[in-house]
Amino acid sequence: MRFDLETLDPGMGYKLLAATVVPRPIAWVTTQSAEGAVNCAPFSFFNAMGGNPPIVTLGLLADAARGWKDTPRNILETGEFVVNLVPYRLAEQMNITCVDAPNGVNELELAGLTAAPSAHVRPPRIAESPISFEARVMQTLETGPHQLLVVGQVLAVHVDDDLVKDAARGHIETRKLDLIARGGGADYYREGPTFQMTRPRWADLAPKG
Ligand SMILES: Cc1cc2nc3c(=O)[nH]c(=O)nc-3n(C[C@H](O)[C@H](O)[C@H](O)COP(=O)(O)O)c2cc1C
Repeated sequence: MRFDLETLDPGMGYKLLAATVVPRPIAWVTTQSAEGAVNCAPFSFFNAMGGNPPIVTLGLLADAARGWKDTPRNILETGEFVVNLVPYRLAEQMNITCVDAPNGVNELELAGLTAAPSAHVRPPRIAESPISFEARVMQTLETGPHQLLVVGQVLAVHVDDDLVKDAARGHIETRKLDLIARGGGADYYREGPTFQMTRPRWADLAPKG
């Protein structure tokens, strides 16, 4: 079956992508308004997109009722955000922060989370999260009405000490992170079995003789 998205209901594209591009990592994003109000919400249209400089991207979709969500509004206003990652033990608290709260509600307080100061940007990081990326906007692209693609440069990475294997080499205990990821609908993934593959070398694959 083929879905030709330009001729179908506009909600179809989201449904097909969200149900098939899985598992998606979750960025638990903290921002501040120009007036200093702290905001926090999860976003699974998120990934790492560069190493030098280190780049993360966010896909912030329109809110049917409000137009802009608070997160894109704050990012457009201030050019700064923090991505916190979500281990299984914080899943319920992460879920609370996506509540459709009225303007001005601090979702960190609502979920019983602690704001810790960032070093390079004004929005705080979430103290309970084991990994946080302080980021400055490199570019934004309005990809639709009230829909924003954000490209951010990571200025600092905070990692819980017990997850650092070798600080000098930048080696992290990835399997201990126990991060959750988003699936289709209300499904979430938790880290399960892994398998290993090494990159093939042409010297081994090239026809002999
Ligand atoms: C796990 C999870 C992933 C989400 N991913 C996205 C996303 O990628 N893009 C988006 O616009 N909304 C996403 N949402 C919905 C937002 O979190 C929700 O609209 C939130 O209320 C926005 O908050 P804000 O207005 O404070 O920015 C997600 C929600 C959850 C629970």
